[in-house]
Amino acid sequence: MSGHSHDGFDWAASLERLRKNDELNADTLRELTLRLLGPQTRVVVDVGSGAGEMSAACAEAMSGAGGTVVLVDAAPELVDAAAARVRAAAGPRVEVRTVQADAAGDGWTAPRGCRSDGTAP
Ligand SMILES: C[S@@+](CC[C@H](N)C(=O)[O-])C[C@H]1O[C@@H](n2cnc3c(N)ncnc32)[C@H](O)[C@@H]1O
Repeated sequence: MSGHSHDGFDWAASLERLRKNDELNADTLRELTLRLLGPQTRVVVDVGSGAGEMSAACAEAMSGAGGTVVLVDAAPELVDAAAARVRAAAGPRVEVRTVQADAAGDGWTAPRGCRSDGTAP
């Protein structure tokens, strides 16, 4: 197990299962994403990004106007997997950033430059 997530679960070992779930639920995740994003959304921070399917849908939705997707996960293997998935879906106008961090740990702060309403500073 690598990366601490407080739940005692080995998320990195579940990458293939997470990918299968993403594949099965792709339509639902896409629909949910479109409801969450507003027309002005330029920044998405996905905390616990897993295999990255929701962020991939966000990146696709923002590909026209451009924006930034920040992937945050405790497991470095999942950060890498999500980054590959999202970069494959994002066009050249969407920047993909990664943060390997324990969001429940002391000292966690949201990545600088991100507003909670999804607009860029
Ligand atoms: C069930 S997956 C969710 C994946 C994706 N968000 C989705 O909805 O399909 C949970 C993810 O949250 C991450 N996670 C759990 N606790 C965390 C913590 N304290 N800090 C950062 N990431 C965490 C795990 O590593 C895993 O990738």
